[in-house]
Amino acid sequence: MRLGLLTSGGDCAGLNAVIRAVVTRAVLGHGWQVLGIRQATHGLLSRPVDALPLRTEGVAGGLNHGGTLLGTTNRGNPFAYPSKDGGQTDRSEVVAAGYHELGLDALIGVGGDGSLSILRRLATQGGWKLVGIPKTIDNDVRHTEHAIGFNSAVAIATEAVDRLHVTAASHSRVMVLEVMGRDAGHIALTAGVAGGADVILIPEIPYTMAAICAKVEQRRRTGRNFSIVVVAESVRGPGGETITYKDAHGQSRYGGIGEMIAREIGLRTGAETRITVLGHVQRGGSPSPLDRVLASAFGVYAVDLVAAGRFDRMVAWRNRRVVDVPIAEAVAQFQAVDPDDALVHTARGLGIAFGDEIEDRR
Ligand code: F6P
Repeated sequence: MRLGLLTSGGDCAGLNAVIRAVVTRAVLGHGWQVLGIRQATHGLLSRPVDALPLRTEGVAGGLNHGGTLLGTTNRGNPFAYPSKDGGQTDRSEVVAAGYHELGLDALIGVGGDGSLSILRRLATQGGWKLVGIPKTIDNDVRHTEHAIGFNSAVAIATEAVDRLHVTAASHSRVMVLEVMGRDAGHIALTAGVAGGADVILIPEIPYTMAAICAKVEQRRRTGRNFSIVVVAESVRGPGGETITYKDAHGQSRYGGIGEMIAREIGLRTGAETRITVLGHVQRGGSPSPLDRVLASAFGVYAVDLVAAGRFDRMVAWRNRRVVDVPIAEAVAQFQAVDPDDALVHTARGLGIAFGDEIEDRR
C-alpha cells in the first residue's frame, strides 16, 4: 500500500503535527509506505513528480514545529494555471496523472475549503482515492468545529490584544488591530472576546462609524480613556466598499480596513489612534496544544478511513471527537460567523460593541 500526502493552501501551525500523525499511523499501524508530495499540486505537476518518502524518524520532531516540511502553495489552481502569456491554461490532466506516476493507492490532502474542492475535482477526474483533512486559520470549513491552525492563530491574536491593552491604557489611545480570516470573522470574534476588546468588527455584522464612535465616547465618559478595536480583514469600508489591494501577481488580497477605521475614529472623536496589522504572524510559530491534539486525531483517523476503504470523506471535529463527512458537503460553501452565534451573544453580554448598536447617523 502506497499512501500519498500533501499540504495545500496557506500554511498554519499544526501541519507538521498532522504529517507526523499520518506517517506514524500509516507506517507503524498499517505497515504502509508514505510519499510526501512537495508544494501541493505543484509537486504533482512536476516531472518527475516532486515527492519524497516519509519515514517515522523524519517526522518525529514535527509535533511542535510550525510550517510544513512538505511546503505548500495557495496559488496555481491546476484548472486555471497561469501561463507565460499572462493567461490561464488547464493543467489538471497532468496533475491528476502525477498521482498514478507515483503509483499511489490513496492520497490524504490537508487543506482549506479552496484546496479541498480542487483536490476533489482532481480526484474525480483522475480516479484518485482521496481523504481530506481540514486546516485553515480562517476556520471557515463547514461541518467541523475546528480546522487545524485556527486555535493557534487565535492564541497569537489574543496575545496581541493583551499587549495592545497596556500600551493603549498608558497613552489613552484607541488601538485598532486588523486580523486575518479571509471572508469570515472567526479569528476577530474569538480573539476579541478572549482578549476583552471593546469593539469587534466582522464581515457578517454590518457596522456604522457612529456606533463604533459612540462606544469609544461612552468609555471615555466612564473614565476609560482608551479602547481596543479588533477588525477582521474582510470588513467593508465605511461606505460599504471592499478594501483590497493587488499583489505582485495581480491577485486581489484583503488589507487596509484597519487603517481606514482608525482614521475615521480619530477624525470623528478626536482620539489618538494607532493601527496594528497582525498579518502572517498569525500563521507561524508552534501549534497550540489544541491544534496538536486535533492534528494528531485527524491524522490517525484519516489513515484509518483509507484502511477502511472510505474515500471522498473529510475528517471533522464535533463534540470532542473525530467524525467524517463528505468532502463535497464540507466545501459547498464557506462557514461564516452566524450573527446569532453563542459567542456573539457572549460578547454583547459583556458590552462589547459590533458597531450595529445604533442607526447610521453619518
Ligand atoms: O486563508 C488563510 C489566509 O491567511 C487568510 O486569512 C488571508 O486572507 C490569506 O490567507 C493570506 O494569503 P497569503 O499568504 O497569500 O498572503
